[in-house]
Amino acid sequence: MKLVVFGATGGAGRHLVDRALAAGHEVTAAARDPARISVRERLRGAAADVSDAAAVARAIEGQDAVLCAVGPSRGVAAGTIISGAARNILDGMRRDGVRRLVFTSGLMVGEARGASALQRAALAIFRRVNGALYRDKASARRSSTIARRAAPFASARIST
Ligand SMILES: NC(=O)c1ccc[n+]([C@@H]2O[C@H](COP(=O)([O-])OP(=O)(O)OC[C@H]3O[C@@H](n4cnc5c(N)ncnc54)[C@H](OP(=O)(O)O)[C@@H]3O)[C@@H](O)[C@H]2O)c1
Repeated sequence: MKLVVFGATGGAGRHLVDRALAAGHEVTAAARDPARISVRERLRGAAADVSDAAAVARAIEGQDAVLCAVGPSRGVAAGTIISGAARNILDGMRRDGVRRLVFTSGLMVGEARGASALQRAALAIFRRVNGALYRDKASARRSSTIARRAAPFASARIST
């Protein structure tokens, strides 16, 4: 398949790129600075800041699936980077008819199914301490859930 990975220069994104290449996929690594992508067989770089809807849409054009591992970079406070990325990616996917999305979520977002009372209490504290990041991730999750209901995206969330 042809895959585009957003956040391809990050810890989780690099891992996704490597795994996708190892599985035989053709990968576009989307990054703010594509010079940081070491291009090799079946891997190309594309310039895309996730806050730039047009650049995101261009990177998605012609792909079979989108993977997103974007997060606030080191030294940058959490804000709306993840939810903004979700919005622009979903718009790009709708525009190009791409139906598969894998979006990194996180431990503190979601139902915590199967967690013990102690684990739930720890998660509640973690959410409170990381309030801005939690709100950004929760908002991204809501957008992708709404999109999945509205359109038949084959959607999944992964944790790294
Ligand atoms: N690491 C884990 O164990 C783990 C576990 C669960 C979930 N997650 C989630 O996975 C996501 C990534 O985590 P990580 O540890 O890999 O973080 P990371 O190493 O800090 O990587 C963040 C990535 O997002 C990119 N990015 C930031 N702002 C951007 C923008 N405006 N446009 C385009 N790209 C942008 C960064 O690009 P630059 O290199 O250009 O800054 C980088 O590639 C986060 O949402 C995190 O919460 C991580």
